[in-house]
Amino acid sequence: MAKLKVTILHDVWEQGPPEPEPEPVKAPRGKDGKRRKKKHPLYDREEIFEALTNLGHEPSYHVLDGKNQSLLSLARCGADLIFNLTESYAGDDTMEKNIAAYLELLHIPYTGGGPEALYLSQDKSIAKKIFDFHKIKTPDFAISYKGRTEHSHDIEFPLIVKPVSEDGSIGIDSGSVVDSVKELMERIHYIHEEFDSPALIEEYIEGREIYAAILGNENPEVLPLIELDLSKLPKGTPRIAGQDVKFDQETEAYKVTKSSPVEDLDEETTKRFQDTALAAYRALQLRDYGRIDMRSNKKGQVYVIEANPNPWLSSSAEFTMAAKKAGYSYTEMIDKIVEMARARSM
Ligand SMILES: Nc1ncnc2c1ncn2[C@@H]1O[C@H](COP(=O)(O)OP(=O)(O)O)[C@@H](O)[C@H]1O
Ligand SMILES: [Mg+2]
Repeated sequence: MAKLKVTILHDVWEQGPPEPEPEPVKAPRGKDGKRRKKKHPLYDREEIFEALTNLGHEPSYHVLDGKNQSLLSLARCGADLIFNLTESYAGDDTMEKNIAAYLELLHIPYTGGGPEALYLSQDKSIAKKIFDFHKIKTPDFAISYKGRTEHSHDIEFPLIVKPVSEDGSIGIDSGSVVDSVKELMERIHYIHEEFDSPALIEEYIEGREIYAAILGNENPEVLPLIELDLSKLPKGTPRIAGQDVKFDQETEAYKVTKSSPVEDLDEETTKRFQDTALAAYRALQLRDYGRIDMRSNKKGQVYVIEANPNPWLSSSAEFTMAAKKAGYSYTEMIDKIVEMARARSM
């Protein structure tokens, strides 16, 4: 395949770790052939840069931060293909879809979800309404914004209260699961105050947390299922993947929770997870790669909690774990994604 000029497009994360200088990865190799030197763990974009180099492409970085005419210079960047890692524009994560729409206008092929998928997935209430239409099981829910009820099923406690369109477990912690009207009202108030966002109030599904990574378009491949084991969380805290579990490396919650390929699911349940994930991927028009977060209850019923277009591709991410389990190296995984995006432009 011909070599491509691939621009890795990324945003800046206000609360993230300090930004390293964007530079080609040229550190010396250690005995095992892996590159050394960097003290910080590689960012996903650096790992992708390295994979693209291994594939014979010509990668570069472009940061889209809303400053320094970053949109104008993107239009002129001369890329054959964009590897789209953006999740926000100028700190606003509702703008994710607009970036994809801008790339459409520029006629530059890019990886991952189009504006449609990004729009449909970002607002969890819209995604859930679409799941309902397609008979894909998702927890019953209500949407409340400052006293106005936009929709409500006849939901029952325990409930979980979330901002309707955040990601990365923002606004999700041990106070999110509520058992009484008092706690519910207080939590709705908290979501309004803290995020100025409608509150999504969902029936809480106690059970296993399973992620399905999916790769492909016409015939998407569901990669081996990954489970986030939450069973060792401190007693008295709900078994959910809050911000602490996902990011706060110092916390007990982070240390005792771990993702790994699921080994002990029977064939029938595995198939139920795979079929549900595939249906959700298609319903929201996800493209190239995506991750569907699910839960199953004691009865073995499978619920979609959330669909993630363009999920995190770090070597430690669940998506990569699933790809490895399926037999793909990191470089092969990146290659597949690039080739799917390239095929759209031909
Ligand atoms: N209805 C639910 N029942 C049980 N757990 C839930 C439910 N909704 C969310 N959670 C827990 O909260 C976590 C984060 O919720 P999610 O909707 O995926 O938010 P984010 O988009 O921030 O990842 C999930 O991974 C799960 O552990
Ligand atoms: Mg999630």
